[in-house]
Amino acid sequence: MGNCLAFTAETNGAQGNGANSGVSKSSGKNNRSLARSSRTAPSYSERSTSSFSSLPTPRSEGEILSSPNLKAFSFNEMRNSTRNFRGEYLIGEGGFGCVFKGWMDEHTLTTSKPGTGMVVAVKKLKPEGFQGHKEWLTEVDYLGQLHHPNLVKLIGYCLEDENRLLVYEYMPKGSLENHLFRRGPQPLPWTVRMKVAIGAARGLCFLHDADSPVIYRDFKASNILLDADYNAKLSDFGLAKAGPTGDNTHVSTQVMGTHGYAAPEYVATGRLTAKSDVYSFGVVLLELLSGRRALDSTKIGVEQNLVEWAKPYLGDKRKVFRIMDTKLEGQYPQKGAHAVATLALCCLNLDRKIRPKMSEVLKMLEQFEIPKDGAQQSPTEQQVFRGQTMKSPLRQVPSPMKASPYALSPLPSHQGHSVQVY
Ligand SMILES: Nc1ncnc2c1ncn2[C@@H]1O[C@H](COP(=O)(O)OP(=O)(O)OP(=O)(O)O)[C@@H](O)[C@H]1O
Ligand SMILES: [Mg+2]
Repeated sequence: MGNCLAFTAETNGAQGNGANSGVSKSSGKNNRSLARSSRTAPSYSERSTSSFSSLPTPRSEGEILSSPNLKAFSFNEMRNSTRNFRGEYLIGEGGFGCVFKGWMDEHTLTTSKPGTGMVVAVKKLKPEGFQGHKEWLTEVDYLGQLHHPNLVKLIGYCLEDENRLLVYEYMPKGSLENHLFRRGPQPLPWTVRMKVAIGAARGLCFLHDADSPVIYRDFKASNILLDADYNAKLSDFGLAKAGPTGDNTHVSTQVMGTHGYAAPEYVATGRLTAKSDVYSFGVVLLELLSGRRALDSTKIGVEQNLVEWAKPYLGDKRKVFRIMDTKLEGQYPQKGAHAVATLALCCLNLDRKIRPKMSEVLKMLEQFEIPKDGAQQSPTEQQVFRGQTMKSPLRQVPSPMKASPYALSPLPSHQGHSVQVY
């Protein structure tokens, strides 16, 4: 099978799940057992290890909600924790509801006065129909079982009458979307952008390479949350899906996701593979490089669609600078930027079989990681892309623009939020 990338370093990290080749299950690398933390005292230190259960599906609602990793909160506790969802504690709003700051005792998880105890993020879903409940439950199901430093921690939930809430660890730096696209005094420097890309890639690798692979399906800048040190954590598992099993190459689903991030073949056919996440990862890499949104209706013509606009520049080292975020003010390594742009191009290949696995993407990105001693390695393109002559995959496949997948997209427009077709 063709692949964009070849690497010099030995693979010592995650292995691919073979999702594209008929899904061999991973070779037991992830022999992690589900850490059953105390129901009442999930301390943060427990997250230093990752764990994963075999996610037997389907589980009944009762089984999901009785996860020993999660605390069931009453609505009254949620009200107390957020001072009745006071406006000043609102920290974000998405398609499914509002997110508030709340406070609780770190050990007992009983609500406490604002400013005392541990800060949490409380997501309050808008009153919804069946679909909203289904996604809420899927999130509880996955995050009740998946534990990894690059996945946001779900502390508990509230299900009372029509009220559905989720309580997460609080991520002080908010979402990557806020940092990249909102006007602020401090644009993210190159090294932080690489750190975020690496953290997010680790999160996806963990999902894809698990014994029972999971396809995340909603990888985008607003779902990448950042802790105080800019460690990236994936949030929002409402659309996550178990990967294909046995000889199946894909799972067939209703098309769900977010405009601008969803892989074209998935949008066109509903056939979902881990490579759909790889495509979305490529889109986020472009956002990190360019500081532009995947879709931006304030721009004109081709510039509205980041992939469409950027692709012609990505494989040409003399042109890559044209797509780079001007807020970086040129403060990035040219070779590194070109290598990441070429990686993004590989992830965005229209042929999903040619896209790299997330384990390969991670391997490449890790070469940009700043070691603890502070000295940064800067891989050459030859090191990173050994085995290919930096040819643009666009020369090998027809331009996506000749039959723009977006023109055919069944995803209804919903202001950059996750959407679904019923
Ligand atoms: N655990 C958290 N800690 C801190 N901020 C958070 C947390 N969870 C969410 N947020 C903030 O709330 C915002 C809204 O999140 P939410 O997941 O509801 O919507 P979204 O990701 O923007 O869109 P979508 O509806 O497609 O998920 C995020 O962009 C982020 O700024
Ligand atoms: Mg989100």
